[in-house]
Amino acid sequence: EKHFAKADDLKGRKVLITAGPTYERIDPVRFIGNYSTGKMGYAIAEEAASRGAEVVLVSGPVDLKAKHQSIKIISVESAREMLEACEKDFDSCDIAIMCAAVADYAPVHCAGTKIKREGHEAPVIELKKNPDIAKTLGAKKKAGQILVGFALETDHEETNAHTKLASKNLDMIVLNSLRDKGAGFGTDTNKVTIFTSDGQTMPYDTKSKRDVAADIINAIISL
Ligand code: CTP
Ligand code: CA
Repeated sequence: EKHFAKADDLKGRKVLITAGPTYERIDPVRFIGNYSTGKMGYAIAEEAASRGAEVVLVSGPVDLKAKHQSIKIISVESAREMLEACEKDFDSCDIAIMCAAVADYAPVHCAGTKIKREGHEAPVIELKKNPDIAKTLGAKKKAGQILVGFALETDHEETNAHTKLASKNLDMIVLNSLRDKGAGFGTDTNKVTIFTSDGQTMPYDTKSKRDVAADIINAIISL
């Protein structure tokens, strides 16, 4: 298997990864969330671990398991829980990769019992902004730490990716192409372009998420 042939080039490094969606509760049986299977984040976790890293994988609700023994999974549900988990491990990590599809908004109130349909008007759900996990970590980043974000855009891809790179104080952003067939949600392949804060642009072909993960780790190491 070619993935086991890699050098231990992340030996002694700690890598923090977020993956999957977050769920923001409306009531005990309903939530607001994003389409995300978590496959990309889990692939990065496996790739980093296979190259010798100690991996902390902060995971939203997904249907995946980590295989490598040096991946520690911390399961969370909401964006707020994801932020709290990340803050515990960020200071001691060398590399943080923000792969999660974090819900941007959460209901202001979570109903304690199931919201009923019969005899009620359709509810209006008031939302508040969730914390920006990448931006919060970016503001605390120390010299030598590398922070990587993702962007999934439908329009003005490059401009939006560069804006996020700067505003979240990232060192690198991975732009996912939604236009390409075989890229994005639920697929096993991805087509990405990586932009770095020092001005590099690296386009890649469509490939398996595990091979995309290897490209991302290689780009991080080259920084
Ligand atoms: N991100 C995060 N916390 C959030 C929102 C986003 O950590 N509350 C991270 C994502 O994990 C990703 C990057 O920020 O690495 C960009 O996410 P994206 O949703 O594209 O950016 P937003 O800043 O939320 O902007 P918008 O959704 O309006 O495009
Ligand atoms: Ca968002």
